[in-house]
Amino acid sequence: MMRLDKYLAEMGIGTRQEVKKKIRQGNISVNGTVVKAADTKIDENQDEIMANGQPVSYVSYEYYMLNKPAGVISATEDRKDTTVLDLIKDKKRKDLFPVGRLDKDTEGLLLITNDGDLAHRLLAPKKHVDKVYYAKIRGKVTEEDVKQFEKGLNIGTEDKPEMTRPASLEILTSADESQIRLTIHEGKFHQVKRMFLAVGKEVTYLKRERMGTLCLDENLKPGEYRPLTKEEMEHVRK
Ligand code: URA
Repeated sequence: MMRLDKYLAEMGIGTRQEVKKKIRQGNISVNGTVVKAADTKIDENQDEIMANGQPVSYVSYEYYMLNKPAGVISATEDRKDTTVLDLIKDKKRKDLFPVGRLDKDTEGLLLITNDGDLAHRLLAPKKHVDKVYYAKIRGKVTEEDVKQFEKGLNIGTEDKPEMTRPASLEILTSADESQIRLTIHEGKFHQVKRMFLAVGKEVTYLKRERMGTLCLDENLKPGEYRPLTKEEMEHVRK
């Protein structure tokens, strides 16, 4: 059971103040009866709530796959920049957040949800969930780099070392600008960029392609998103 005004606000009908006004104005009905008290208790799983004659169905969890574009930040709100949450226009819930962070200039797979348990399972350092990145690198990436990545790199300083776990680096093309695919099993701050810096190279483009079992849908252009499919949900929850 929950308060009617809280329910309507959570379902994105308006802010708490706006929904209180709608309730007062007689725009909300519960099981066919107009209700004018904002603190009316409703059963979110049973009662039929209508706002301006349209049913408002209860959604407890939402899961979206976003192809994050460059220039957008992985936060829930910001005064200056567009956030990944601003891009999810269909959202019902107000408590969505991105699972992990991609840098402002990084593109690719980002899961947006309000399922805190799932986020914890995907991000917990002990779980070592794979993350796969495609990147363009200034300069030639070499077999020596592949070995260094496999051994683990110090992405900290000499005084304060910060070692990475073995990572699998695949060279796709090696030239003045190289293309690579990298699989890491952890998620340190700016990890991919810092790993390349540790071998004296610079990442010029970065895109996340996979996180655990979840692969970026190639049909999603940067900035586009879609709900997870049933199958994706089942795999990602395991
Ligand atoms: N590693 C980075 O350096 N940046 C990202 O956005 C993700 C991984």
